[in-house]
Amino acid sequence: MKMLRIAVQAKGRLFEETMTMLQESSIKVESGKRTLLVPAKNFPVEILYLRDDDIPQAVASGIADVGIVGENEFEEREENAVILKRLDFSKCRLSLAIPEVRMPEYIAQGLTWFNGKKIATSYPGILGRFLKKNNITADIHVITGSVEIAPGIGLADCIFDIVSSGSTLVSNNLKEVEVVMHSEAVLIGNSNLSEEKKNILNEMLFRFDSYKNAEGKKYVVLNIPNDKIAAASELLPGMKAPTVTKLETDGWSSLASVLEEKHFWEIIGKLKQLGAEGILVMPIEKMIL
Ligand code: PRP
Ligand code: ZN
Repeated sequence: MKMLRIAVQAKGRLFEETMTMLQESSIKVESGKRTLLVPAKNFPVEILYLRDDDIPQAVASGIADVGIVGENEFEEREENAVILKRLDFSKCRLSLAIPEVRMPEYIAQGLTWFNGKKIATSYPGILGRFLKKNNITADIHVITGSVEIAPGIGLADCIFDIVSSGSTLVSNNLKEVEVVMHSEAVLIGNSNLSEEKKNILNEMLFRFDSYKNAEGKKYVVLNIPNDKIAAASELLPGMKAPTVTKLETDGWSSLASVLEEKHFWEIIGKLKQLGAEGILVMPIEKMIL
């Protein structure tokens, strides 16, 4: 039996959320603390745990069939693989940041400020292409970790690095001045997958979607006076229309629908005003549209 081999980051940014997504898609794998290659227990995939820098090449060369990696890593390596799906987690941006004290200068000069500067980064490829496009000549200084401390210790004038919450920049007195790219986790694939592997991939993508669709949604059941069903239905769009069931108690019905968590309290408040009672809220595990 053929297996689809998925390259996954062994630790770091994407690791936790990747494992959660697999788990919620009912693909059972143990995290590869000791072994590099771990077959799933109940689905024809095997997980190859790698450093994130190595994932694009592993997929391009066919060592892995697909991989889950930050778009920034994929962009950086320019390997011959394709993005099959944007996964909507681990969102961040790649930005240029400069010491706060240089801000007045920067405001006056704009991007040309970077001419002749020494920029520390772990992403020389993306940065180099950006500078070239903007006709800026700067000295790219490659370091693999703790990029943010480089200006403070005199190793560089400024940095080009991942920004997520922005707190690393703040604690190093750096100011983000230019967002070069937005990034998120992506599923990349080798361009020559066999039919058999494509079928496994499609089943896996279908499961990823069912999990993503259910994320942030709740199933709500409540009792409502019959003359308020129409008004309540308007508040509960659901997947199609809410399900209405007559109750034994005269003049009352039960309504069931799907609610988005972010509008949850607002809608529940309005439903109570309409006279809704016995409101039950349940988690949704999967949603197949
Ligand atoms: C990135 C980046 C910053 C930090 C930014 O490092 O290099 O240090 O995240 O995040 P923030 O804006 O939320 O503070 P990462 O955690 O990926 O680890 P690494 O630099 O050690 O590879
Ligand atoms: Zn870092």
